[in-house]
Amino acid sequence: MNARYRRIVILTGAGISAESGIDTFRAAGGLWEQHRIEDVATPEGFARDPNLVLNFYDLRRAALANVAPNPSHMALALLEREFKGDLLLVTQNVDDLHERGGSARVLHMHGELKSALCTSCETRSPWLETMINRPPCPVCRAPTLRPDVVWFGEMPYQMGRIYQALETCDLFVSIGTSGAVYPAAGFVQEARAAGARTLELNLEPSEGSRLFHETRHGPASVLVPEWVEEVLQTGG
Ligand code: OAD
Repeated sequence: MNARYRRIVILTGAGISAESGIDTFRAAGGLWEQHRIEDVATPEGFARDPNLVLNFYDLRRAALANVAPNPSHMALALLEREFKGDLLLVTQNVDDLHERGGSARVLHMHGELKSALCTSCETRSPWLETMINRPPCPVCRAPTLRPDVVWFGEMPYQMGRIYQALETCDLFVSIGTSGAVYPAAGFVQEARAAGARTLELNLEPSEGSRLFHETRHGPASVLVPEWVEEVLQTGG
């Protein structure tokens, strides 16, 4: 293999799961047209109406049973298995489709639907059930679980590790994200400042398209397998 790239950081967003049947956020008819961010994705919204918020995430967690990974998730899992260099897969998605597509190491910077965060003991626990009925925390038994999803105004997970990888990567690839939400929207600039090549794979030009060295437009289920094959054949 021509080892053109040795350290790749990949960022995925809702677009990679769109063809699996999960609504994106900012499309016409997307989640943020159906629900107000202030109501279901902020700590203040949760304090105001916890039942509304718990129900919203209970429904989204249950809906995972009706979707399946698509060829783009599978292709990134193949890359993880076959790429000889370092690979960090960071997702903004709270679904589990990367894992079900075969990726073993996924950094969920915005948390996970299948995880509960206890507001009393701050433990994160794997969670598959509903939360609306106020089940006890598996660790401290307090009935104070909330979705383990990062809301607006909260700090995403593992930012230190992500920035460290961005500072040393030689290729940064952004897949299916609108570039509307920071800090993830700023990763391309971090990677460029570190001298990495930057590539965007998205259905259409995103808010941040002009920041990338190269952008390819089309569905993730086509673009991602093509790109992975390119990296594995030629090193990128
Ligand atoms: P968005 O809904 O903002 O953007 C999804 C992007 O995917 C858009 O640019 C679409 O054009 C693109 N897209 C749609 N279908 C696609 C397909 N089949 N193939 C490739 N691309 C496709 O979703 P995100 O960028 O993930 O945060 O949103 C970022 C964050 O905003 C989310 O993690 C969430 C949200 O508010 C929190 O809740 C904290």
